[in-house]
Amino acid sequence: MFNLRVGVVGAGIMGAGIAQRAATFGFSVTLVDKDDACLHAAEKRMAKSLDKMVEKGIILKDIEYDVLTLVAMTTDIKAVSSSDLVIEAVNENLELKQKVFMKLEQICPSNAILATNTSSIPIASLANVTRSPQRVVGLHFMNPVPVIPLVEVIRTDQTSDATFEACIEFLEEMQCETVQSKDSPGFIINRILIPMINEAVKVLESGVASAEDIDRAMVLGTKQPMGPLALADLIGLDTVVHILETLYAGFNDERYRPCPLLLDYVRGNRLGRKASHGFFDYRDDAEPFSCLTPYPKRRVSI
Ligand SMILES: NC(=O)c1ccc[n+]([C@@H]2O[C@H](COP(=O)([O-])OP(=O)(O)OC[C@H]3O[C@@H](n4cnc5c(N)ncnc54)[C@H](O)[C@@H]3O)[C@@H](O)[C@H]2O)c1
Repeated sequence: MFNLRVGVVGAGIMGAGIAQRAATFGFSVTLVDKDDACLHAAEKRMAKSLDKMVEKGIILKDIEYDVLTLVAMTTDIKAVSSSDLVIEAVNENLELKQKVFMKLEQICPSNAILATNTSSIPIASLANVTRSPQRVVGLHFMNPVPVIPLVEVIRTDQTSDATFEACIEFLEEMQCETVQSKDSPGFIINRILIPMINEAVKVLESGVASAEDIDRAMVLGTKQPMGPLALADLIGLDTVVHILETLYAGFNDERYRPCPLLLDYVRGNRLGRKASHGFFDYRDDAEPFSCLTPYPKRRVSI
């Protein structure tokens, strides 16, 4: 089997998901976070997600034990220096990501691939803080990573063929589907999706409809699996704001300016699921309306 040691920096929603998916497909993973509490939370989330996948028959029980033992967790970023591929998944903030890339450049051998899971930040702005931009690439995984197979692969003008091909091979090993995007703010998905979420928040803010009805309208009327506000809660409202800011800065277009209500929620720490409260309340394990919400069955004669 294609053998690659994987490092993941940032053990939040995405870092833990990437580590879990990679380990599920047999890769050894070193998962790093600056914060011990985040590593503990990541471990819990991975265990819960694996249990759910076993329950649904997606993976077999005996794989579960291997998965967690394949993920080594640490707060010491130097631990990724033995990885062949390092995927950065810290918060969506340019300066923070640039600092991480400068550090990775120092500690990783020159043949290691440096990838970022950024949702929107042009990859060149990270590649250019390194002395080896040919080994830098964007791998934009989707949330939740263990469940959604799509990855947007973003090459800069300087990404080498060898870097790109090794990443495609790695993603294929993990049964991921890939699409390629040019290095443009928000790439494909978030350039389309995030303005729609912002617009949904504007509809809520202007009192046109309740959060519940906005989501029910979009799920039932447009066949989306979950409504835009529940999706914003899943992504994290801070991340949604950061993506809008990148789009706004990149295109200088008013339509990407974050809606004031969204900014208010972030200031109030209503960040969505990760804070148990966003547009919807998750404190009692309640689930917002989605295509999975069961309807009572009706008998009809035809
Ligand atoms: N949330 C989503 O739906 C989603 C989807 C695709 C991509 N992304 C992207 O993935 C990245 C991570 O997003 P997330 O939702 O997992 O964020 P998150 O807030 O859940 O997690 C970020 C983690 O990074 C850690 N961190 C911060 N600085 C660090 C450092 N210097 N060293 C090590 N760890 C550090 C934090 O402690 C935190 O645990 C962002 O770039 C985001 O845009 C997010």
